[in-house]
Amino acid sequence: MFSDTLCQLPWDAKWFDEIDSTSAEARRLADSGDYGPVWIGSLTQTGGVGRLGRKWISEPGNLYTTALLPADLNPEKVGFLALTVGLAVRDTVVDLSQGRIVPGLKWPNDVRVNGAKLSGVLIETGLSTDRNRRWVSIGIGLNLAHAPDVEGYKTTALNALIPDLTCTPQHALTILDMCLRRRLEDLTSGKHSKIRHNWLEATDQNGALCRVTLGSSIIEGRFEGLDQDGQLLLRDHGHNLQTITAGDVEMIKERN
Ligand code: BTN
Repeated sequence: MFSDTLCQLPWDAKWFDEIDSTSAEARRLADSGDYGPVWIGSLTQTGGVGRLGRKWISEPGNLYTTALLPADLNPEKVGFLALTVGLAVRDTVVDLSQGRIVPGLKWPNDVRVNGAKLSGVLIETGLSTDRNRRWVSIGIGLNLAHAPDVEGYKTTALNALIPDLTCTPQHALTILDMCLRRRLEDLTSGKHSKIRHNWLEATDQNGALCRVTLGSSIIEGRFEGLDQDGQLLLRDHGHNLQTITAGDVEMIKERN
């Protein structure tokens, strides 16, 4: 899926002061025949995109970046890539905070502290214009200095959690590059059960009642872990085990 040499050296980084979206720029690069590996970073985005087509508020001070990689990914591998990236962003936060923050993961890869979102990941795949080569882009937003107001969920930022910690987006990207390449080695060497195990150790969803929305379909159930393919398992109200492959997951508050 990824070549063995992909993880060995730091990936180049192209920085912009402002751009529409680093993920849109990754697609433009791929359309021009450049498949990386490269990080595209920007200090601010005028059209930042989140999952399910949502807007990603992109004020200066946070990290906005997309890794563009040549890859041949089948859907099962994309699922494990999503878990792997979540682990890598979590590692990045642990490193940047010198171990003072150990976030939890919400399926597939939201990085959260006390239930508030610190980072989001948007993975996209595509084909070269001649349809012979595949690429993957991994867009990551990490709240370093600002926790944007977003309807529907709580947010936080590194600086709000540790006020004496100042971290530039460029420094955060250096650490993220190291953490992602290290975690991707597990994926390139086929260590799927290790990734699944590490993700289960890192999640903050244990025991939670969850609601998954995908289009007009809504499924509620209690978190039961991940299946062997890294898909989310929920025990619904009728005690049936539901396997979730995609969707927006929220945790439901329960009264005691
Ligand atoms: C989510 O909705 O949780 C995913 C958010 C992903 C945001 C990042 S910021 C860098 C990259 N460029 C974008 O436009 N989106 C991703």
